[in-house]
Amino acid sequence: MISLIIHGGAWDIPDELVEAHKLGVSKALNIGWEILSNGGSAVDAVEKVINYLEDDITFDAGRGSHLNADGEVELDASIMNGSTFRCGSVAAVKNIKNPISLCRKIMDESEHIFLVGSGAEKFAIQHGISICSQDDLRIEREILKWKSIQGKNGFSTKDAFKFHTPAGTVGAVALDSSGNICAGTSTGGTFNKHPGRVGDSPLIGCGTYADTSIGGVSTTGWGEAMIKVVMAKTVIDLMEFNNGDPQAAAEKGIKILKEKADGFGGVIALNNRGEFGVAYNTPKMARAYINSQMNSPKILI
Ligand code: GLY
Repeated sequence: MISLIIHGGAWDIPDELVEAHKLGVSKALNIGWEILSNGGSAVDAVEKVINYLEDDITFDAGRGSHLNADGEVELDASIMNGSTFRCGSVAAVKNIKNPISLCRKIMDESEHIFLVGSGAEKFAIQHGISICSQDDLRIEREILKWKSIQGKNGFSTKDAFKFHTPAGTVGAVALDSSGNICAGTSTGGTFNKHPGRVGDSPLIGCGTYADTSIGGVSTTGWGEAMIKVVMAKTVIDLMEFNNGDPQAAAEKGIKILKEKADGFGGVIALNNRGEFGVAYNTPKMARAYINSQMNSPKILI
């Protein structure tokens, strides 16, 4: 069995953006599926899927991400290999085009797990990952949106979700032909966030978790709430004790998120049999999945 599930954010995706989201997750899924079908690793599939989504300005990850209160892009990401328990995370990086690849580099080549800001960028340079400029990450759509709220007081990151501001964090979970599970997540975080704010996506256990003996999870949504309920590991733990049912675990996870933290967002889960779970309490969630028992992928919003 090989299996892949990916997401492109959970929010009130307006009708005019539905096709772009479907196309984005569909193309990214194809990239990952090609890797897994040719015997490639779950880690490679997750990295390359997320690279594609980071480069697609439809999503809040990499280029095209939301700007923070200073008008800058600050990116967070994480990846976890569920077989080795090795992980890599970065937060608040401002000059990295594909943060998930920097996470991969940290996972593979560092004794550390989590690097932030200029230290993460220094590690990138030392390990041959090129640095980009803010102009490579900031796009007109986001600059105009940021300008439109300047001078308005009391605009919180939670308001940004309430007012249907795009919130398309991206993520992927893969099971490869050797039975390894990997999960990863990448985001520009919330619109108008305080500089230095770190959300759930780079936090192992909150935005991302993988344990090959159980499954893998990636989350999207309001990060402050996700952190409070340690969302990704909570869903993994639920799967461990519900006979590995990813759909029931995902649904219970979202229920916990709402009840305990008044949170909102979405979660994708994959178990070690290659079965899927998806749950969200936002109006829509962009996601796509396929496994070797399916004739064709499911692309859903
Ligand atoms: N879930 C992404 C964030 O809140 O940063």
